[in-house]
Amino acid sequence: MPAATPAVSFDPALGLAVLRTPNSVYAVRIGADGSPRHLHWGPALDPAALADPRSPADSSFEAEAAADELAVQTGARFGPAGLQVRFADGTTGAQWNFLGSRIAGGELRLRLADRRYPLAAELCYRVRPGSDVIERWTELTHTGDDAPVTVHRLDSASWTAPQLADYRLSHLVGGWNSEFQLVRDHLPVAETTLTSRRGITSHHANPWLALDDGTATEQHGEVWSTALAWSGSWRITVHRDPVGRTTWTGGYGHEGLSWTLAPGETLHTPVFAGLYSPDGFGGASRAWHTHVRSAVLPTPDRDLPVLYNSWEATGFDVDHDGQLRLAALAARLGAELFVLDDGWFGARTGDRAGLGDWTPRPEAFPAGLRPLADEVHRLGMAFGLWVEPEMVNRDSDLYRAHPDWVIHTPTRDATELRNQLMLNFAVPEVEAWAHRTLDRLVREYDVDWLKWDANRAVTEAGRPGHPDPDRLWIDHTRAVHRIMDRLRADHPGLRIEACAGGGGRVDLGVLARTDQAWTSDNTDPVDRISIQHGFSQLFPAQTMASWVTDSPNVATGRTTPLRFRFHVAMAGALGLGGDLLRWTEQELDEATALIARYKEIRPLVQHGRQHRLTAAGGVTAVHYASEDGADHAVLAFRPTTRFGHRSAPLRLSALDDRARYLDLDTGHEYSGAVLRHRGIELRLPAGDHASRLVRLRRTG
Ligand code: DGJ
Repeated sequence: MPAATPAVSFDPALGLAVLRTPNSVYAVRIGADGSPRHLHWGPALDPAALADPRSPADSSFEAEAAADELAVQTGARFGPAGLQVRFADGTTGAQWNFLGSRIAGGELRLRLADRRYPLAAELCYRVRPGSDVIERWTELTHTGDDAPVTVHRLDSASWTAPQLADYRLSHLVGGWNSEFQLVRDHLPVAETTLTSRRGITSHHANPWLALDDGTATEQHGEVWSTALAWSGSWRITVHRDPVGRTTWTGGYGHEGLSWTLAPGETLHTPVFAGLYSPDGFGGASRAWHTHVRSAVLPTPDRDLPVLYNSWEATGFDVDHDGQLRLAALAARLGAELFVLDDGWFGARTGDRAGLGDWTPRPEAFPAGLRPLADEVHRLGMAFGLWVEPEMVNRDSDLYRAHPDWVIHTPTRDATELRNQLMLNFAVPEVEAWAHRTLDRLVREYDVDWLKWDANRAVTEAGRPGHPDPDRLWIDHTRAVHRIMDRLRADHPGLRIEACAGGGGRVDLGVLARTDQAWTSDNTDPVDRISIQHGFSQLFPAQTMASWVTDSPNVATGRTTPLRFRFHVAMAGALGLGGDLLRWTEQELDEATALIARYKEIRPLVQHGRQHRLTAAGGVTAVHYASEDGADHAVLAFRPTTRFGHRSAPLRLSALDDRARYLDLDTGHEYSGAVLRHRGIELRLPAGDHASRLVRLRRTG
């Protein structure tokens, strides 16, 4: 038996580093000048057989130079730099000596040191068994004992696609109430920057992208895709040059920031993960979902509870009796978690006051929160609490006591967004206060679930008197992550929902310490279809919180049937957000039945494999299959009907031609070949907002 090829290897004679995953090979070669250069990322092949990558000095105007694994500013390099440094004498850039490699398990480190200055870098790579994802990051160390080094840019990694006939870029854009809109556009010969300058991941762009040659489809074609695990400001620059190469470099921070690296200090970047998929956009998404479950989420195997949250129903108008009435109804319907949202604390009767004062509002909860928490538990539900720990209103005891705790520049007017300022978690005392406060709440009220919200971006960032003020952009985010990690460690049962005014902070960094994300404040089911479609490019359905709310929808005014609202929300982690006190008995009964049905398909939605489908006639669908292919749930939606045409049968491309499947609701049995190649008749009801859930079980 030949020995299995190791997942990670380095051949010192060839200067060749190779990472192997089930569907790809990634290879780097150390150039004669000491710089690691990209060699291959794509289908399996023997990289040793590939020609040496050319260095920029090999031809005038560097026409054939191979891309660096992390481009520095020296030499004939004119594209976007992944590392920009300045030494005390004014010299910029780095010229590397390659010191060697280090391999441990699935991890490879390429060790570099500047030839003349006290700067060392490690380019780090990690692969995990059974996954096509390559995780990359950089560690930059000041190895001297003298003057600090100024870092203007430190990316996690640069990625390079092979030369393709053309390039197309898929990415996510949006805004508040319209997050995760998938855009798929021809990539211009230019530098295209995707970024957030907001100090949070942002509603407007997400640090995920996919690249293909313009011909990939949901089911076929080669796709290269990357995602940055960072919840603060970030920047990814995609560079397509006129010669036909496309590279992209990305990491934390936006342009114009600089960090001071003190002697002996190391800067660690977040992980920038990438994968190659030969199976189209659907294959790429499934590979991401597997990665998020196996390597990112803290407790991926636990079911996400059906939650009730009254925010849309009551707004700030919360009190003990009203919440209890809603809790009793939610429990009757089958909810498993009751979340008390904004308005329960301090002087919070609107968005002008109270943030920062995390004690129950006496007029609303005269005996504190304990009676509500106990009653929710007695009703058989877990108890959840909304917090926005990074924020403060000027009208709060916290601000009056510590006006200097907010992120501010003393000589600039402070911008208030939603009437609030942001606390500076980069200050250890503030981080400690936030951790203490949250820890107290969790203990005092037996909180099972924290909804951690953040409703503004960073402005007037400054740290008066601090020698390295821009560190704030890194340190605040790291503190948010650290507090979440500590809370989870100290309270093993506690679960956290990531939220930032809807989906403003959803990324692989925050998901490493949370269980799900509030996808969007927009709960209109028609809008949600495209929001959920974009979300699913990277994130699995179990992380996608989806509520059924009232109709007409509060954001859009659109009226939709309860069943349609449920079916759309059942494609993720189902929740309820309507004013149940106003639902009719018939609606409550219908909701009870649909929640019970959701619980039946929950293992498929939350732990199965997702396939995105379409059929002529405006139908889109999501198909969830169990890992063994035995059980299937398909949720199909047709938001608008056109000309009264019947929609075409939905082809279930993920089924097995040779198997037989039983429709659990109609009793029909089908051959897999028929369902795959002809499709299933959905028999959607006439009119707009039609939907159907199809459940299939393999019978042979
Ligand atoms: C924004 C969130 O996205 C909403 O769900 C809600 O929690 C409000 N904040 C409360 O202020």
